[in-house]
Amino acid sequence: MKQINIVNGPQNASVIIQGCMRMPSLSKEDAAKVIRTAYDCGVNFYDHATCYGENGAAETKFGESFPLTGIKREDIYIQSKCGLCFDRNEFDWTKENILSSVDDSLRRLQVEYLDTLLLHRPDVLFDPEEVAEAFDALEKSGKVRHFCVSNVVPMQLELLKKYVKQPLVINQLQLSLEQSQLIDQALYMNNKTTDYSVNRDGNALDYCRLNDITIQAWSPLQFGMFGGTFIDNPDFPELNAALAKIAEREQVSKTAIAIAWILRHPAKMQAIIGTMNPEHIKDACMASKVELSHHDWYELYLAAGKFLP
Ligand SMILES: NC(=O)c1ccc[n+]([C@@H]2O[C@H](COP(=O)([O-])OP(=O)(O)OC[C@H]3O[C@@H](n4cnc5c(N)ncnc54)[C@H](OP(=O)(O)O)[C@@H]3O)[C@@H](O)[C@H]2O)c1
Repeated sequence: MKQINIVNGPQNASVIIQGCMRMPSLSKEDAAKVIRTAYDCGVNFYDHATCYGENGAAETKFGESFPLTGIKREDIYIQSKCGLCFDRNEFDWTKENILSSVDDSLRRLQVEYLDTLLLHRPDVLFDPEEVAEAFDALEKSGKVRHFCVSNVVPMQLELLKKYVKQPLVINQLQLSLEQSQLIDQALYMNNKTTDYSVNRDGNALDYCRLNDITIQAWSPLQFGMFGGTFIDNPDFPELNAALAKIAEREQVSKTAIAIAWILRHPAKMQAIIGTMNPEHIKDACMASKVELSHHDWYELYLAAGKFLP
């Protein structure tokens, strides 16, 4: 498994992260198998959020299952996010909520610290000075080692950076072959004939590259926001044919090629996989061994319905 050093953040982090959003429905034994299978494939990074499952059920399941895996806490990075309070229909980045969410995550995960804490999608009422106070307290207590965000536009990152002392080292954003706005808007710039040119995220990709913020790509196999996977989906014949052609050449699955497409980007992103099927985890992790060419990358991008402007 290839690894990256996140600037000012976790070192030797696997380029593939095991996402745990879909873990609540598993038994303890099956969850342990997911964690261990990913680890045996070279994954050393696990992604959580307070909102994955009712009352943090994904974190609870991970905490109960982890002792069954035989993996040492210090050999992996555990990441969680806070701020999405669907149970009370609001997003909340107040100091009080950030601090209590971290305590809840640590208790559910049965760990002493989080390697990385992400503020999830923005609370539009957030006060950056309050966020800064919360981060200072979490750093001082040793409960969180590195601070990050998810789904945050560059200007809000600038606003946070004005007050937060700790470097913000990760921005977790949606990216897949089908959901590629992060990339599209710059390619189609100034083109009124297509929606691909609409700048929906304030050039987050280039901003993160300029500021040494590692991008973690969530839902690497999904279309739409949570439309389902495009892998083997008859609604995406051209894309599946292009994936199959390269997969056959590389002797891996289409899943591996779709993830290799993300890893091929020079921004050196991590990809967060969400499957809970051990065989699919093994397939996905093969992405790290594939070296797509410049031409392969474009071939896949165009097969996903884009065109050269
Ligand atoms: N920051 C954010 O706002 C945000 C939002 C969403 C997600 N996330 C993170 O990103 C992670 C990944 O999200 P995701 O689950 O949507 O990602 P994904 O890897 O794109 O999709 C996984 C889903 O695709 C299915 N799938 C079907 N065929 C597959 C195949 N051949 N290979 C692999 N998977 C296949 C999986 O089912 P099987 O289990 O049956 O394989 C699973 O339901 C989450 O766990 C979470 O940690 C972050």
